[in-house]
Amino acid sequence: MLEEELHRLLAEAIAELTPISGQKELEAVRVRYLGRKGLLTQVLRNLGQAAAEDRPRLGKLANEVKEQLEARFVEKGAPLATTQTSDDPARPRTDLSLPGRRVPFGRLHPVTQIMDEVCSIFEMLGFAVAEGPDVELDFYNFEALNIPRHHPARDMHDTFYVNDRVLLRTHTSPMQIRAMEKQPPPLRIIAPGKVYRCDSDITHTPMFHQVEGFLVDRKVSFADLKGLLAVFCQKMFGSTTSLRFRPSFFPFTEPSAEVDIACVICRGAGCRVCKQTGWLEILGAGLIDPAVFRMVDYDPEEYSGFAFGLGIERIAMLRYGIDDIRLFYENDLRFLRQF
Ligand code: PHE
Repeated sequence: MLEEELHRLLAEAIAELTPISGQKELEAVRVRYLGRKGLLTQVLRNLGQAAAEDRPRLGKLANEVKEQLEARFVEKGAPLATTQTSDDPARPRTDLSLPGRRVPFGRLHPVTQIMDEVCSIFEMLGFAVAEGPDVELDFYNFEALNIPRHHPARDMHDTFYVNDRVLLRTHTSPMQIRAMEKQPPPLRIIAPGKVYRCDSDITHTPMFHQVEGFLVDRKVSFADLKGLLAVFCQKMFGSTTSLRFRPSFFPFTEPSAEVDIACVICRGAGCRVCKQTGWLEILGAGLIDPAVFRMVDYDPEEYSGFAFGLGIERIAMLRYGIDDIRLFYENDLRFLRQF
């Protein structure tokens, strides 16, 4: 009886196994026959009722059936594991209609873009790029630029001091001294970088960017400066851009000027960005003061030069029609993505 049942179980299992093509199906059949509560276990439960002399033979047969079945399942399962076809319902499918995952692209900050553009215009005009420290000595930021301690011109710069001798540079002009200290004339250099002033409103942020430019050689005149800046403004803002030079004062240049460009936001009519004047200041400039040349052991009788300092955020505002400088530093992606 039991013997027959075991043979039948084996035959049935093999018959069921043959047409199977999926791993899941195979596993279900395996559990049904060989699982802990499977058919084989149920048959073996009756082994106890068999006659004592038959038991060893039946036990041996049961083991053989079990081993054979296990072997069959392994044999059947191995190729299924490697040759799963896309028809296999157990296989996770790729939904080709799903939209792809977007790779988020970064981009350069508008201030960086304008900075690069300004630098490349001057590089095209033969200027070399030099960079210096944001944390600067009082000596380079003020003293050597003809602004001694207690000079009223220091009031123009709302300086962040680190200590008595050290500060965050308030302009890129210290690079004039650092460059001239290092090499004899002639030189033609631009120095881009961050500067810091304790000031904040719609046209001022505590950190902003400048590009310093300076040229030293024999017989350099104010006309050279004007010509260079006119070329720069035309390249930067278009050939019809009007600019004006206003007499001004800087301790390190003489004569000095501030250069304004017609406000492109109101086209000269007057708005809150140009403070109703129709003009926007974009740079300070002048001929390098002989006192500065003496600081770096250049002979002011032999050499002359000009210097200028451009405000990058101002230029970016004009270029893009932005009326509040603080937008550059709020890190609002809706704003930044537009550039
Ligand atoms: N350093 C001046 C400023 O920050 C600008 C300037 C640079 C003026 C060079 C003259 C010459 O305002």
